[in-house]
Amino acid sequence: MALREEIFAKVTEYYEKAHANKPFVPGQSRVQYAGRVYDQHEMVKMVDAVLEFWLTAGRHAEEFEKRLGRFIGAREVIPVNSGSSANLVAMTTLCSPQFKYRLHPGDEVITPAVTFPTTLAPIVQNRLVPVLVDAEMGTYNIDLDQLEAALSPKTRALFITHTLGNPIAMDRVMEFAKAHNLLVVEDTCDALGSKYDGQSVGTFGHLATLSFYPAHHITMGEGGAVYTHSRRLARIARTVRDWGRDCWCGYENPASGKCGIRFEREIDGIEGYYDHRYYFTEIGYNLKITDVQAAMGLAQLDKLPGFVAARKQNFAKLYEAMKRWEEYFILPRWLPKADPSWFAFPITVRDSVPFDRTALTRYLEERRVETRMLFAGNILKQPGYQNIECRAIGGLPVSDQVMRSTFFVGVYPGLTDEKIDYMLNVLEDFLNRGR
Ligand SMILES: Cc1ncc(COP(=O)(O)O)c(C=O)c1O
Repeated sequence: MALREEIFAKVTEYYEKAHANKPFVPGQSRVQYAGRVYDQHEMVKMVDAVLEFWLTAGRHAEEFEKRLGRFIGAREVIPVNSGSSANLVAMTTLCSPQFKYRLHPGDEVITPAVTFPTTLAPIVQNRLVPVLVDAEMGTYNIDLDQLEAALSPKTRALFITHTLGNPIAMDRVMEFAKAHNLLVVEDTCDALGSKYDGQSVGTFGHLATLSFYPAHHITMGEGGAVYTHSRRLARIARTVRDWGRDCWCGYENPASGKCGIRFEREIDGIEGYYDHRYYFTEIGYNLKITDVQAAMGLAQLDKLPGFVAARKQNFAKLYEAMKRWEEYFILPRWLPKADPSWFAFPITVRDSVPFDRTALTRYLEERRVETRMLFAGNILKQPGYQNIECRAIGGLPVSDQVMRSTFFVGVYPGLTDEKIDYMLNVLEDFLNRGR
């Protein structure tokens, strides 16, 4: 329709005038740690979805599932409204009474102590017992050498995170999981595009999760996804996401239901039939996305290969430049089989240097270079988590060190060479005279 095209042309014009080509002014413009990278395509796609006015997940969401699944190499993608929701859906799915190998309250789940809070929260919320394992300095991933020590007769699962996009040795993890009959969930919220031994992270375990918050590799504003090879687990995950209802009629919702049993569902103790749409097989939530979010996601998927390449390139540039400062900093490490699609560039200030992390991050922030902590640090030190029922393996000394001395700066595709050079100059100034 001509009017639609006219609206899209206006949106493009608006993008050019209001959003495009913001010049970088050193010391004034922020050198962000992350952020949305977009152009008129995201805006036009979203406006298209708004004009269509389907609102809830529809054709854009369906296409997003398929395309993201192809990119990752996962059979099933279940979009949700955040990475935190994805983690909740994943853990709740593993607790489903419909799942043969289900987890039960009191079962133990091995997970890293250096974590994002909503990776740990769904373990606690599902009345499972987290077993916290220390981090490994430099990779910031769970220390696999401590897995044996973390085992108990109650251990049933691993919920592990590819920290900042840095792949864990998934061959070792899966071998351990097989040997001890454990379920594996991979939090890949920060790792879209990361590979281990040529295979996308997230496709090794039973379920995996993603976040599409603006800091992440692609964004929908808010959003996330669960993905899996298992049709059975995907079906349960959709039910958990969709109020707990059994109905799987999908986005079209035909009147009679795709399942063909819409008005043939019998319920024990009730005469006649009950509408399948109101037949609840799980204790669920509503964690769905809107079609406007999915439309944005589609435009971002077009850019994803370029985003991954830019993240790797920015990381490499920072790494090369920072090698000369290894006496001050522990630089990130990754495994020979790992091909990380980095979320950020982690830096640990060595204990031996005459300044601390706070002095450095203050200096950077005052000069408009954004920094962030490695999420919760040792999560057991966070007020909300100090009294959870859990087991911790050893004293978690590396997690404490991370909490005390680690931070990260950005590598996201919005960083130009100019911004990275500025960041490096500020770092150099600090090391030369700023402290
Ligand atoms: C590793 C990890 N897991 C989960 C999440 C939660 O994602 P969201 O912010 O979309 O809820 C994040 C958020 O940044 C994360 O970094």
